[in-house]
Amino acid sequence: MYTLEDKGPSVPKKAFIVGVALDGQSVDEVEEHLDELEALIISCGGSVVGRALQRRRVPDAGTFIGSGKAKEIGEAAKALESEIIIFDDDLTASQVKKLEKTSDSAVMDRSSVILEIFARRARTREARTQVELARLNYLLPRLTRRWSHLSRQVGGIGVRGGEGESQLEADRRMLRQRIQRLKKELKKIEKTRGVQRHSRRDVPVVALAGYTNAGKSTLFNRLTGGDVYAKNQLFATLDSRLRRGALAPQRMVIFADTVGFIRKLPHHLVSSFRSTLEEITEADLVLHVIDRSHPAWREQYQVAREVLEDLGVSSEETLLVYNKIDLLGDASPFLPGEHGSDTTLAVSATTGEGLDTLKATLAQRLFQGDQVSFGPPPSALPQSDSDSP
Ligand code: GTP
Repeated sequence: MYTLEDKGPSVPKKAFIVGVALDGQSVDEVEEHLDELEALIISCGGSVVGRALQRRRVPDAGTFIGSGKAKEIGEAAKALESEIIIFDDDLTASQVKKLEKTSDSAVMDRSSVILEIFARRARTREARTQVELARLNYLLPRLTRRWSHLSRQVGGIGVRGGEGESQLEADRRMLRQRIQRLKKELKKIEKTRGVQRHSRRDVPVVALAGYTNAGKSTLFNRLTGGDVYAKNQLFATLDSRLRRGALAPQRMVIFADTVGFIRKLPHHLVSSFRSTLEEITEADLVLHVIDRSHPAWREQYQVAREVLEDLGVSSEETLLVYNKIDLLGDASPFLPGEHGSDTTLAVSATTGEGLDTLKATLAQRLFQGDQVSFGPPPSALPQSDSDSP
């Protein structure tokens, strides 16, 4: 449920979650998606009191799950004293409306939860602007009459138009204006980033990318001797962070820790975060970090791979890093026929296992046959403990 006073979606404490296994999807797969939705809800301070899973060939246009099922779920949720029903799939504005009526409960979807997390985690001006833009883009097609008088609440930017313009139209116009303004602001911020990028071109940049919670920040800390926030929490990192690290004497690189990917990432969030993700596209090499101990690691790999491809990063520019191998016991992280090589490596960011090989591989890929072309890094960049030759 969005509350305008908060200027964003808000996840109440007790939630009942719903997943739908459509044609071609297994129940196990959807259960795993619901586990992730639960983790997302916990990440923003809520809790899950119950869940329901439905098999359907195709979604119901009106209520996504069909009105009989919606009623049933509403009753189950009420019995468990849930305050809201949260769907794992994107719902249209009219589906939310119908579902709320049929289930007699507040209803929201996964995208709103992700937006809420992003809104809470955004710290820098850029991240805040990006989240605000994503939120307004999400809101625009969902604007209904119950949002009326929005313009008065969001900073009074909206000016009532000509005679006869409805409040809803005025609100829509106001949102569009605000979206344009935020886009301009982002462009300005991006320009400044462009200048910063330019000034560090003589040092190779290695970006850490991957699914949320894969261990990017932990690995980043290991490689740079820093103390970036790493937590067992989805989307702990929202802004890309840059820091120098040494691969070997005279072999300095800049590591960039970036925002994690997730399945069903709201489309508007991806486009809003494009400038942050540009750290990835501009990097000399991308470390695609994978939580190899996660049961759904293959799907997480696929989701991240698709986002990377969207950003124009080919697999040749990527080094696969299987992380968390300390949790695998005796099992080999490599698939049959796959070996540790200059394209796939296995590490534990926690224990440090495999990091020397990773650094050596990076040094080889970035500096091979090139003794002098990368000069000393600009002094403006943050120093780390491990960067002295
Ligand atoms: P986002 O910011 O959500 O994208 O996460 P991230 O990819 O930066 O992950 P982060 O480094 O925050 O780590 C997520 C959790 O995994 C934390 O609890 C880490 O302590 C844990 N973790 C990271 N690497 C390893 C590892 O090699 N082994 C084990 N056992 N845990 C790890």
